[in-house]
Amino acid sequence: MEKNSFVLRGNICYSETKDRLSITDQGYLVCEHGISRGVFRELPEAFRHLPVTDYGEQLIIPGLVDLHLHGPQYTFRGLGMDLELLDWLDTYTFPEESRYEDLEYARKAYQSFARDLQESATTRAVVFGTVHGEATEILMDALEGSGLQTYVGKVSMDQNCADDLREGNGKAALEAVRKWLHRVEGKYEHTKPILTPRFAPTCSEALLEELGHLQQETGLPVQSHLSENLSEIRWVKELFPWSSCYGDVYDHFGLFGGEAKTVMAHCVHSTEEEAERMRAKGVFIAHCPQSNMNLSSGIAPIRGYLEKGLSLGLGTDVAGGANLSMFRCMADAVNVSKLYWRLVDQTKHPLTMEEVFYLATRGGGSFFGKVGCFEDGFELDALVLNDDAMTQVGSFCTRERLERYLYLAEEKGRLDAKYVAGNQIAVHP
Ligand code: GUN
Ligand code: FE
Repeated sequence: MEKNSFVLRGNICYSETKDRLSITDQGYLVCEHGISRGVFRELPEAFRHLPVTDYGEQLIIPGLVDLHLHGPQYTFRGLGMDLELLDWLDTYTFPEESRYEDLEYARKAYQSFARDLQESATTRAVVFGTVHGEATEILMDALEGSGLQTYVGKVSMDQNCADDLREGNGKAALEAVRKWLHRVEGKYEHTKPILTPRFAPTCSEALLEELGHLQQETGLPVQSHLSENLSEIRWVKELFPWSSCYGDVYDHFGLFGGEAKTVMAHCVHSTEEEAERMRAKGVFIAHCPQSNMNLSSGIAPIRGYLEKGLSLGLGTDVAGGANLSMFRCMADAVNVSKLYWRLVDQTKHPLTMEEVFYLATRGGGSFFGKVGCFEDGFELDALVLNDDAMTQVGSFCTRERLERYLYLAEEKGRLDAKYVAGNQIAVHP
């Protein structure tokens, strides 16, 4: 049999555009060498030699992309959800991240995280580690074993954080990144490194400058946090008084799009200037609605970002968000957009199911290349959703079944199969 070449049969849905779903009931999804060849009503002659798995009436959708989450924070999900960002970081997050100095602890925690992510509907993720290079390598080992495609970053921070997490100033912190990169270079097939200044307040100008040079030298992508919380934004203005906006701090050091592929989490309170700069430089925004509620950050103006043509995906931001579920994340994105429309700006109508599905698949997927749909030439990530337990009474069309799955996945949904870049991943170990 040709490797990673097969046909899946079922009720197949993917986003054609931001607001249009392609739905083919009892269709054939063709995968050749890990790449989709498209969805067909009748199986073309050229593909009849491939093995067919018939999933009956089940839904087949693209894999879901979590553009922002923290591996080490998986352990304390659900704690401190009555605090705002900066207090939550000091009270819960930094003390927990300090524990990853202990490699035995890291191993145990990251195995549990990677196993649960493997069993979830997430096929690709962009992940923060901690400042610890060796523990971050353990995180990468665990994620590689899961078969998911991920970017993973050793966090850089050299100021304004817990003493035992603070790295040596500028150059010393950069050396730790280089050492980590050296250890993981060429080691993985599915797991890639990403430069990870935690956020501007915990990075000195010297460190940001060094990271910018390293980005130019290596071409590595970048992830960080941006304009999440009002106190944080005021703090950035105090620390970097020369900056014209928060994003300008990263941009000044070459860590904000352009040649440097970049994803910034949150952007709840971005100014016009900041949003325009993200558009012009192709910076991705990871919208993390549950985290923005839990940490009282606010409601990100996603409708406006869509209208401006920014690159957008969704993130759980575990442990700012308490759940790994990207279904929950899509439903949350619809919900908070309704509050924005009702309470903030009545010209920004709420996001639709089609739009949040697009963000969780094609939107976030494009950070990984041709990922997130079943059109010819896209890497094939697919989920087979079993909604039998939620459709026993009543009758629903495929679109309705998909919409209900977003809201009911945790209660009644079952993931029957998962494919990442054409490889089938075990979901019920
Ligand atoms: N900003 C800086 N660090 C963090 C973090 O760990 N989580 C969130 N949500 N925001 C941050
Ligand atoms: Fe985060």
